[in-house]
Amino acid sequence: MNSKSNNIVWQEQNINKEKRLFLLNQKPCILWFTGLSGSGKSTIANAVEAELFKRGRKTYLLDGDNVRHGLNKDLGFTEIDRIENIRRIGEVSKLFVDAGLIVLTAFISPFKSDRQVARSLVKYDEFIEVFVDTPLEICEQRDPKGLYKKARKGAIKNFTGIDSPYEAPEEPQIHIKTNECTIQECVDSIINHLIKFGYIEGNENDYAI
Ligand code: ADX
Repeated sequence: MNSKSNNIVWQEQNINKEKRLFLLNQKPCILWFTGLSGSGKSTIANAVEAELFKRGRKTYLLDGDNVRHGLNKDLGFTEIDRIENIRRIGEVSKLFVDAGLIVLTAFISPFKSDRQVARSLVKYDEFIEVFVDTPLEICEQRDPKGLYKKARKGAIKNFTGIDSPYEAPEEPQIHIKTNECTIQECVDSIINHLIKFGYIEGNENDYAI
């Protein structure tokens, strides 16, 4: 591990993750949404967070466009910058998991190896990869920010799916096809996964389904 700092030691803290979890009725994890621009990552992550909030769960959503306004505003879209973007998000997510939160991240995160690095920072079952699988043609039709149009004209370089690659997950824990289900159905399948694997408790309505 490269580090520019020497002479630093790990400082033990009195209140650790186990103690924090005692106060929170949930198992922390990262819901790592990955998919093309316009695939629906932010929309679905937002809706899942709203549902978790309604259920009284403690969450935090890190969204690509927003994080690039602050923490990562020094980064662009070259391969090196994207790697650094995802490295920082992985580290921030790890801290939030340590804080006991259910973290939702919505980044294209196009490279398998970077998602693998993010996964390796936490326990295996604390990282849930959610593939928001929307075909490029549909993302391009939706083009909510008009960026595909610009990329096709060459006005934006290194645009994912156009002149920069997207490496789809091979075995995501959750695979969502947004052109085959409604947003509510997508949200339900994610919430059901969290209940099934013990991250959160279900309620009466869930059992009625
Ligand atoms: S990532 O590839 O480094 O994970 P990130 O999710 O942070 O990307 O940011 C993607 C968002 O930035 C897109 O949804 C889009 O709005 C915007 N964007 C601007 N330029 C590009 C580009 N060259 N490729 C992809 N997205 C871009």
